[in-house]
Amino acid sequence: MLLQRISRHATKATRITNSKTTTVLSSSSITQQQQQNREYSSVGKSPYGEFYHSNLSVEKAKNLKEKPLPENLIFGKTFTDHMLEVEWTENNGWAKPKIVPYHKLELHPSCSSLHYAIQCFEGMKAYKSDDGKNTFLFRPDMNASRLNKSCARLGLPNFSSPEFIKCLAELVEVDRDWIPNQFGYSLYLRPTVISTEETLGVLPPKSALLYVIMSPVGPYFRTGFKPVKLLAEPKYIRAFPGGTGSVKLGSNYGPTILPQIEAADKGYSQVLWLYGENHEVTEVGTMNVFFYWINEKGEEELVTPPLVDIVLPGVTRDTIIDITRNDWGMKVSEKTITMKDVIKAVEEGRMIESFGSGTACVVAPINGINFKEKEYSIPAPTKEEGSLAHKLFEHMLNIQYGKTDSPYCWAIQDILAEKKTLLR
Ligand SMILES: Cc1ncc(COP(=O)(O)O)c(C=O)c1O
Repeated sequence: MLLQRISRHATKATRITNSKTTTVLSSSSITQQQQQNREYSSVGKSPYGEFYHSNLSVEKAKNLKEKPLPENLIFGKTFTDHMLEVEWTENNGWAKPKIVPYHKLELHPSCSSLHYAIQCFEGMKAYKSDDGKNTFLFRPDMNASRLNKSCARLGLPNFSSPEFIKCLAELVEVDRDWIPNQFGYSLYLRPTVISTEETLGVLPPKSALLYVIMSPVGPYFRTGFKPVKLLAEPKYIRAFPGGTGSVKLGSNYGPTILPQIEAADKGYSQVLWLYGENHEVTEVGTMNVFFYWINEKGEEELVTPPLVDIVLPGVTRDTIIDITRNDWGMKVSEKTITMKDVIKAVEEGRMIESFGSGTACVVAPINGINFKEKEYSIPAPTKEEGSLAHKLFEHMLNIQYGKTDSPYCWAIQDILAEKKTLLR
């Protein structure tokens, strides 16, 4: 595949300069990445960059598991044959990264990740081209940087994003046969960092483990787009100013279970998370949220809440904003949206459509919101009716599977080919 992808985001992403293996991560982009890491480095500990892809060891599993038929896959239930592990201690820094056979972890019962949720994670996917020859990651730099930010929030160690991404690429390569060779199927990657310190003290951890497990997954919508109905229940708050809503900590998710159960009991599939007296719309379930409406000035506008500390900076959100604003020339605004704004747009017939966005589904159309015991219908146009959600879904999938040329799609082979030029 021709890889002529000089990125317009070259400072953020890998620059791939020609079609074979000459992949250059320029020294200026490394410096910027390092600079970025510094901005959220964990206080006084764990200078990043202490584990290196060049030290990676690979121990292959002796017995490979049987792979389930793709059509039988259930999200997050099946795991591949290998995992990546990197241990860290305050005294010795990061150990050498290793790919090892998939195994259970042995943790001391007092370990502070179990008691105080000193744990964070990422969700990303690896995709295979139709001919099965190429494997891709989608904007892994964003996941690596978000994981670093999450670590910093918990006093967990930071690391070099480029080195991490190359270790990740090796892991995907080792288990590439687990990626179903069908459009819409992928391998879900779950990078995780936990405190392993044995203590009941609420303290910055002195030891940690970074690990990555992987799980083959099927398409989110197996039988075509199915719009979701939301319960907007102001009594529950996902995130608050000064809190941790903008990072991906396990502790953000446990408390969403009860609201989810309540929503399901009332017949709604997701919770629309609100914040504040004005009922600001923040996120939906584990997705960012978009409304496509005619604004009060009569303009077509795609709006999404701004990235303040009550909203997770989604990779999909960022990509949708970029595509719609810069490639498709749409008016796109990141601004505060209240339930009053949403209801007014619905009642005045200005709401065109709405959808959630995230790695799992890419986009999920929304066709109704229950707020204060009243249900508001949101239009959910079909593909034939020109739905933006459908158009985005198809466009994003084509990027992720390497069918449409994009700087956001990183070929595994290209990531690995950088190893000689990557600065430390
Ligand atoms: C709370 C929350 N918001 C938004 C997202 C979407 O983020 P992304 O597009 O990076 O998957 C996720 C999923 O990670 C999430 O858990």
